[in-house]
Amino acid sequence: MSYYSYKQFFRVVFWVSWILMLRWTLQVTSSQISATTSLSLRSGLETLRRRFRITTFGLRRGGCGRRHYFGMTTGEAATASPRQSFASSDHLRHVESMAQLPSGAGKISHLNAVILGETLASEENDLVFPSQDFSRQALVSSPEQYRKMYERSIQDPAGFWSEIASQFYWKEKWDPEVYNENIDVRKGTVKFEWFKGASTNISYNALDRNIEAGNGGKVAIYWEGNEPGDDEQLTYAELLEKVCQLANYLKHVGVRKGAAVVIYLPMLMELLISMLACARIGAVHSVVFAGFSAESLAQRIIDCKPKVVITCNAVRRGPKAIHLKDIVDSAINESVKSGVPVGLCLTFENQSAMKREDTKWQEGRDVWWQDVVPQFPTKCAVEWVDAEDPLFLLYTSGSTGKPKGVLHTTGGYMVYTATTFKYAFDHKPSDIYWCTADCGWITGHSYVTYGPLLNGATVVVFEGAPNYPNSGRCWDIVDKYKVTLFYTAPTLVRSLMREGDEYVTRYHRKSLRVLGSVGEPINPSAWRWFYNVVGDSRCPISDTWWQTETGGFMITPLPGAWPQKPGSATFPFFGVQPVIVDEKGNEIEGECSGYLCIKKSWPGAFRTLYGDHERYQTTYFKPFAGYYFTGDGCSRDKDGYFWLTGRVDDVINVSGHRIGTAEVESALVSHPHCAEAAVVGVEHEIKGQSIYAFVSLVEGVSYSEGIRKSLILAVRNQIGAFAAPDKIHWAPALPKTRSGKIMRRILRKIASGQLDELGDTSTLADPNVVDQLIALSDC
Ligand code: WTA
Repeated sequence: MSYYSYKQFFRVVFWVSWILMLRWTLQVTSSQISATTSLSLRSGLETLRRRFRITTFGLRRGGCGRRHYFGMTTGEAATASPRQSFASSDHLRHVESMAQLPSGAGKISHLNAVILGETLASEENDLVFPSQDFSRQALVSSPEQYRKMYERSIQDPAGFWSEIASQFYWKEKWDPEVYNENIDVRKGTVKFEWFKGASTNISYNALDRNIEAGNGGKVAIYWEGNEPGDDEQLTYAELLEKVCQLANYLKHVGVRKGAAVVIYLPMLMELLISMLACARIGAVHSVVFAGFSAESLAQRIIDCKPKVVITCNAVRRGPKAIHLKDIVDSAINESVKSGVPVGLCLTFENQSAMKREDTKWQEGRDVWWQDVVPQFPTKCAVEWVDAEDPLFLLYTSGSTGKPKGVLHTTGGYMVYTATTFKYAFDHKPSDIYWCTADCGWITGHSYVTYGPLLNGATVVVFEGAPNYPNSGRCWDIVDKYKVTLFYTAPTLVRSLMREGDEYVTRYHRKSLRVLGSVGEPINPSAWRWFYNVVGDSRCPISDTWWQTETGGFMITPLPGAWPQKPGSATFPFFGVQPVIVDEKGNEIEGECSGYLCIKKSWPGAFRTLYGDHERYQTTYFKPFAGYYFTGDGCSRDKDGYFWLTGRVDDVINVSGHRIGTAEVESALVSHPHCAEAAVVGVEHEIKGQSIYAFVSLVEGVSYSEGIRKSLILAVRNQIGAFAAPDKIHWAPALPKTRSGKIMRRILRKIASGQLDELGDTSTLADPNVVDQLIALSDC
C-alpha cells in the first residue's frame, strides 16, 4: 500500500470511529434524558394525584374538615403502592417511615391519621403524627433512629449507658463492670447495681456542673406562689448558694452521710433546696407529701428515724391555710411515744400563709430556717458518694397497711432521670418546663427536681392550686413564664376540661411545644381535649408510664419519633424490656392482654424496700419469677402499642395518687364503731378512681350520718384528705368464702352498679349477704 493509500485508510477509520463515538454518546444521553423525563413525569403525576387527593393509592380526602385517611392493610400497601410514591407528602412521609414500627410489629395496618397542626376530630382519628417541622428538630426524629438506639440499649446496655453516663461528672469512674444484676429470685437474692464503685454527687451534677458549663446566670427555678403576682426566681448560681447554706447548716447540726432527713414541705423553693442540700452531703432525704396526716408522717418518721425534720409553719392552697407545723408537732409527739425522738425541727417561715408569732413553738427543738440558714457560708464541699449509695426514700402504698419505703440510689437514678427527661420531652436549653406534680410524690422527685436540673432546664414551681383564683390559672402561668413543656396528670386535665374551653382559650399558650401526662391511664376523650384545646392541635403529648419503683419513665412516647395513639403510652424507653405475661408467667407475644412485667434491670430501678429486702423480693420478683412485676395490667395492640389498663393488685389510683385498699381499711377499723371494712376502687369521671368503702359496724351501733362522717374523718386523720372515701356503703356483713376470704370481685360489681354481672355467688359462706348489700346501696 502506498503512503497515500495508508493516509486515506486512517482518515476513513478516524471518521468512522468518531461518528460511532458520537452516536454512542448521543444514545447514552438521550436514554438518560428520556429516563429523567419519565421520572419527573412520574413524580409530577404523583404530585398531581396527591394535590387532588386522587384515591388510586388508598388516599382520599376525608369528608369531615381536614381529616386524612390512609386505609390500606399491610398486604395492600405492599402491592398497590410503591413506597417511594409518597416520598414528599407530609404525613405520608411519616407513614412511610413507620413502615416498621419501633416495636418491630411491622407496618401499621390501618391508619386514621392527623398530623400535628390538625385537629383530632373524633374517635376515628386514632393516630397523631409528628409534623415534619417537629420531627426535624427533635432529638429522636424517626422510628429508625429510635430503633437503632433501642436495639443498642438492649444488646449492649453497658456500652449504651456508660456512654450516656460519661456526660456527667464522676469523681471516680466505675470499675470494671457497668452493671450487675440478678432479677431472678430462683437464682438467689435479687440485686441491681449500676456504676458501682464510681463516686459522684447528684447535687453537684445538677448545679455545679451546669454552672461550670457557663449557665450560672440561667434561671433554674421560677417560683409562682398561691396568690397571682407572688413570685420569685433563682438562677443556677443563686440556687447553689442556697443549697450550700442549708448543707452547711445540716452538717453543723450533725447530719452526716447516710443519715435520714424527713422533709415535710409544700411546693416552696425550699423543698427543692432541701432535697439538693441533703444530696450534697450524702444524707438520705425522705420527702413526705404535705397532704399526709400526722399519723402517716409519724409512721414515716418512726421508720427512718431522722435526725432532722424540715417543714414550714403553714401553706395556702387556694383560699385555705393549712397549718403544717401543727401536723408536724403531733407527728413528732407520736414518734417520741414510739421511742423515736426528733431532735430538731427546722421550720421555714412561710410569711404569706402565717406569721411567726402565731406559730406554736417548742423551744429547744424548733428552729426558724430564716434565723440560722442564711448565716452559713454559700460554698459547701461536696460529699462524694458511691453510685450505689442511697439518695432517697419515698414511701408508697402497697397491698398491706404498711407503706413501703422505696429506696433509690444515686448513680443509676441520676443517669436515668436525666436521660428520660431529655428524650421524652425533647428538651432543649431554651425550654421552660412546668410539671404540676408535688415533690412529695415520685414525679416531683424525678421530674421537678432531679431530671430537669440535671439537664440545666428552667423549671416552674407552683405552690398553689390549679383552680385558684379560677380555672384559668394554669394557662395564666403558662403565658406568664412562656412555658414550653407542660407535664400534668389526667385528673387535672379532666377537671379543667369540665370547666369549659373558655378558661383555656382566653390565654395565648403559643409557647407550648410538648405536653405530658402521668399517674394513670389518660382516657382518649381527655387526651383529645388536651391535644385540641390546650395544645391547639400543635403539641405532641408524652403519656409517660412509670412508677415510684422505676425511678423514671419506662414506656413513653418520644414525641418526634412516631405517631401517638390517644390513651396509649406507646413504646418502651431505651433499655427497658417490657413483657406481657399470663397468669402462669408465660410471656405472650403480639396482640394480647395480661400482666405487665419487666425483664432485666434498668439504671433508675429502686434497689430495695427500706429495711425489708424480703418484702421487696416477695412483692415484685416472686409473683412472676424471672421478672419485675409492675402490678399493672396491660394490653398490646396489633401495632405493638402498649395500653396500660390500671392496677391489678389492691392499690387504687385516686387522682394519680396511689392508695392501698388495706391502708384505708386499717384506718376505718381503727374507728371504735367499725367492726370490719372492705375498700374497692370505682371509676370516677374526674379522679380516675374513687374510694368506695363497705363498712360493718359493731353490734348495737346503728347507721347514722354522724358515724359516716366520723369514719371519713378517721381516714383523713390517719392517711390524709386525699384518701377519704367518696362513699361509705353500710354492710351488715361482707361477702366471704367459706375460708373467710372477702370476695372483692363481688364488692367491685356492687360498687359500680353492675348488678347483673355479679357472677357465681354460690361459693359464698352466706349468699344472702349480697342481697342485703344491694338493698343498702342507696343508704
Ligand atoms: C399508674 C407515678 C397509665 C400505674 C409515676 C402505675 C399510669 C402507678 C401512668 C404508679 C400512665 C402511672 N398510664 N397508668 N401514663 N403513669 N400510672 O408510683 O398504675 O405514684 O403502676 O408513680 O400509676 O404510681 P406511682
